[in-house]
Amino acid sequence: MEQVRKVTNDITWVGASDHRLALFENIHPLTSGVSYNSYLLLDEKTVLFDTVDWSVCRQFLENISYVLNGKDLDYLIINHLEPDHAACMEEVLIRYPRAKVISTEKAFMMMSQFGFDVVDRFIEVKEGDTMSFGNHTIAFVEAPMVHWPEAMVSFDATDGVLFSADAFGSFIALDGVLFADEVDFDRDWIDEARRYLTNIVGKYGPQVQHLLKKAGPLLPDIKFIAPLHGPVWRKNFDYILDKYNKWSTYEPEVKGVLIIYASMYGNTESVAISLASKLREAGIKDVKVRDVSNTHVSWLIADTFKYSHVVIASVTYNLGIYPLIHNYLEDLKALNVQNRTFAVIENGTWAPQAGDKIREFLDKELKMMTILNDELTINSTLNEENGGKELNQMVESIVDSFKQK
Ligand code: FEO
Repeated sequence: MEQVRKVTNDITWVGASDHRLALFENIHPLTSGVSYNSYLLLDEKTVLFDTVDWSVCRQFLENISYVLNGKDLDYLIINHLEPDHAACMEEVLIRYPRAKVISTEKAFMMMSQFGFDVVDRFIEVKEGDTMSFGNHTIAFVEAPMVHWPEAMVSFDATDGVLFSADAFGSFIALDGVLFADEVDFDRDWIDEARRYLTNIVGKYGPQVQHLLKKAGPLLPDIKFIAPLHGPVWRKNFDYILDKYNKWSTYEPEVKGVLIIYASMYGNTESVAISLASKLREAGIKDVKVRDVSNTHVSWLIADTFKYSHVVIASVTYNLGIYPLIHNYLEDLKALNVQNRTFAVIENGTWAPQAGDKIREFLDKELKMMTILNDELTINSTLNEENGGKELNQMVESIVDSFKQK
């Protein structure tokens, strides 16, 4: 049975939701599924914008067939060749043998790497090119590294639809939803939209900024933003553009404190929760506590993009940083996260050393990080004599830095 939604009179969503995939890119846990979006334009010519992941190909082909209703497919535009969107292109080309493929030179090169034979069917477009399909004229805008180098976005000036590829996407399966204003996005979706963007494209903030600047002149004409994952935007552009602007410039969304702790026997956990209590008692309203051992690093990364301040509380392990904290730090580095204020707490029963190593990593490996000077070393457990005073000083330092920033 078809599962389709109309974006405009001429453009229909023909994608699919996936609840069976456990790990996106085989690394990021999916708790509420994901959608792969594809859009079909019916004009004098028929044009398909991207395909979907192989796992949902059967549903996707049924959707296309339903909307085409006996017509042939004339063109397939590939905005992004990553297999979560392009895996079904060969199947589409087998079923619609007259269809031509429109994409960038780099995408064409990658298609041959993936083994897609499109040599006689390929139409190469570059920045600023346009193609008319009847009433609709599509403009092509290159978007390198959002999220792969071959990526582009397409703009249909007739209906005002920006096909934005991975940009403005989100985790969570659509399950019949099409538009972001059909859900309480800020309550139910924003955390997963942030986790998607920051972990998948977080490293490429400058390239996202470049695309946002290029799309700026089009903004008055954009009526819909149609990404490759998650809902289509037709209202509240300022809301999602503001989020993208912050994420891509590494600017925190909120003044608040994220506390990430590593605790083997509960003692460092106790310190982390004491700190959270004291911070709230001191008037800081937004404090979030995360246990590194039961929180996938993708959530830690997303939270770090959200919050202005991060406290890392780590036990010492093998005379160094607890491995999962180290993994978090390495991910911060890989994703180019910058411009946050950190405080560090270490714990160790006989040779606490994690603190110095964490501070050294933050200072040497990451960019524009402020590290508060108060050092806090716990020997096994926290009490008035063992770290209690220093914990209160750390609270004061964090409160002071809130006033400065
Ligand atoms: Fe959703 Fe970069 O692929």
